[in-house]
This record gives sequence, C-alpha cells and structure tokens, in this order.
Amino acid sequence: MKNITCIEDLHQVARRKVPRAFYDYAEAGSYTESTLRANRADIEAIKLRQRVMIDVDNRDTSTTIVGQKFSVPLVLSPIGLLGMQRGDGEILACRAAHEAGIQFTLSTMSICSIEDVAAAVEKPFWFQAYVIRDRGFMKELILRAAAAKCSALVLTVDLQILGQRHNDIKNGMTVPPEIRLKNVIDIATKPAWALSVLRGKRKTFGNLAGHVKGMENVNSLSQWTAQQFDPTLNWKDIEWVRSLFPGKLILKGIMDVEDARIAAKSGADALVVSNHGGRQLDGAASSISMLPKIADAVGDDIEVLFDGGVRTGMDVERAIALGARGCFIGRSYVWGLGAYGQAGVCKAVDIMQKELSVSMALTGVSSIPEIGPNVLVDPPFTQKSPRKKSAKPKKRS
Ligand code: GLV
Repeated sequence: MKNITCIEDLHQVARRKVPRAFYDYAEAGSYTESTLRANRADIEAIKLRQRVMIDVDNRDTSTTIVGQKFSVPLVLSPIGLLGMQRGDGEILACRAAHEAGIQFTLSTMSICSIEDVAAAVEKPFWFQAYVIRDRGFMKELILRAAAAKCSALVLTVDLQILGQRHNDIKNGMTVPPEIRLKNVIDIATKPAWALSVLRGKRKTFGNLAGHVKGMENVNSLSQWTAQQFDPTLNWKDIEWVRSLFPGKLILKGIMDVEDARIAAKSGADALVVSNHGGRQLDGAASSISMLPKIADAVGDDIEVLFDGGVRTGMDVERAIALGARGCFIGRSYVWGLGAYGQAGVCKAVDIMQKELSVSMALTGVSSIPEIGPNVLVDPPFTQKSPRKKSAKPKKRS
C-alpha cells in the first residue's frame, strides 16, 4: 500500500476491484445527487485558520463519544451489504475499527449477522436499526443486539421511505441485487472479489434470513424490505426503542433544528446530523450547513455527531469546529475495504488520523477539546455572531 496516501487513492483501487453494482451502490446519491455534491462542496468551502508560533509538539486526537473512548473522533457508519464489498466485510471492518481504537456500526441490512460479527471480534460493537413495520421482528433484532453486547444502538430515522438511486435500478441493484447477465460478466473480471465473497460466511442478509418466514431467498427479501420501512415512524417509537435497549441510543438522520430540540428531550444519548450521505432527500441542505445551527440549539442536552462528505482529517477538524463531537464515515472506509479488506479500512482510519493531527498542529491546537470556531476563518452557517462565540471552545466533558 506504499502508493496509497489519501482516501481518494483507496477510492480508485476500489473502483477497479469491486463489481460495478456494489461500487455504484456505495457511490450513489439520490435522484440528481445535488445534496450529495453539496455535502462535499460546503465542507471544502470552510476555511481553516492557519496559526503559527504555538507549541503543538504533543498532540492528542483521542476523545470520548457517548462515554466511550476513541483514539480519533471517527465512527464507521452502518453500510448495507458491506459484505458484498468484500467477503465477510462486516467482520473485517469491525476488526479494523477495534484495532484502530474506534467503533464500527453493523447495519441491519448487513451480510454477516449480529451473531457472526459478535463471534468474530473481541470487543462490543454498535448496531444500527431501522424502524420497520413488523415491530415484533424489530424488537427481536434489538434484543439480539443487546444479547450480543452491542454497546450502542444507532437508530436510522431518515429512511422511512427509500430515496431513489438511479444506478441501483439500472444495475439491478435495488437492495438486494438482481443477478443480471451484465453483473455476472463484471464479476467474472473481479476474481479476488469473487473468491472472497465465495469464501465468506453468507451470501444474503444475515440478520433477516432464517429469522423472517419465507425470507430465505434474495427476491422475497427484496419485497420484504420495500414493504417493511415504516412511514408511520414518529417520536413515540423512540420511547419504545429506548425501553428495549440498555446501551446508548443514537438517532441518525437529524437535519432540522426543531427535530433536534425534540431529539434532545427524547431520551437518546446522541444525534447524528446527517442527510444519509445525500442518499435520501435530494435537495436537502448539506449536513455541514445544518451542523452549527443544530449544535447551538441543543447545547449540552445531547451529544451531536455528524456525517456527510468527510474525506480527510481536515474535514474532521472542520466538523468538530462547528459543534460535532465526532464524525461518522461511510464511503471513506468502504473504499478501503473494497480495495484491501481489513488492512484497507485500517489504512483509511490511519490516513484520516494523521491528517487530523497535522491539521490540528497547523491550526495551533493540541487536543480535541481545544477545537472550536477558533480554528476557522469566518465560521460559516451560524446564525449568531460567530466571532464572539469563538473566544472559548464549547465545553466537552
Ligand atoms: C441504506 O441505508 C442505504 O442508504 O442504501
């Protein structure tokens, strides 16, 4: 991996190694992809403040998120079908996260099941759930996560209905994929991928198959998924989920100040400012542009996490400066996994940690709690006078 120096390098290798349908699935935004583009464009437009003559010899990127220790403020996002980017992808990514001192979130729509991952790793991991119509099955899933000692439940609240991603339909890659001739030909040109998936524990959705009647074959799973996301989702459901899960509860997909204020009183431990990586409401604001408004509105009432377009350690510093306690990353590690398996995920985290450390040094800070609007030139997206606020970084316990 000598020539891998940035996340974009991993992206280019993954493009060559992962079959088109799965590569496109991770890449996609919904509809015109305007929100997907805005996520990146708005992050890149934030200017860091270059500082000099400050002793930054001893830097520390560690922090805590929902009371848990992190070597760097990064969480691996839940990604559907991760085990199709590389065989046993969920296990590999979880091992990499633990090796790097961060956390991995297993998606409900994963290939390896909760129990597969729990049996293959040493430490607790996080589990993601959707609110689905079959509350009996949802309850069972959450209890399985609790039994597997998952230390946090990430509840996705912005997928009550699926935003369309055009390529998934064109590739026969609605979740789960259809086997079409062009996919088969493509896969034939990716032998290392085929071998890894062939050797992998499972070929379908591990958390669902065998647990839901009639769901053993891929096509019926597809129908089940479409039927099961629940548009009736509302705040009462959060109370119910809270009562089922003893660990930390994190609400992912908050993009509005009013929703954030309700989330802060919902009993959840954290919220994630997220537009689902630009994959849901096309035309939604970039998640970074909502972050400072939401962080300001909830204050210390709930931890604020962030995702959407984080590709560098500099981006992590930008998000923390605007009020995030940590960042979820999705595509940035998925490309590492597709490119080099577990080592590729470790590489992605290592790249971002080193970038963050350099960025901290060059903005004159040595630890995460020191990062606030003070590291930004004209902090953007704030409604209040940012300069006055910037005198002291936000308190972190
Ligand atoms: C599922 O959560 C997806 O974004 O495909």
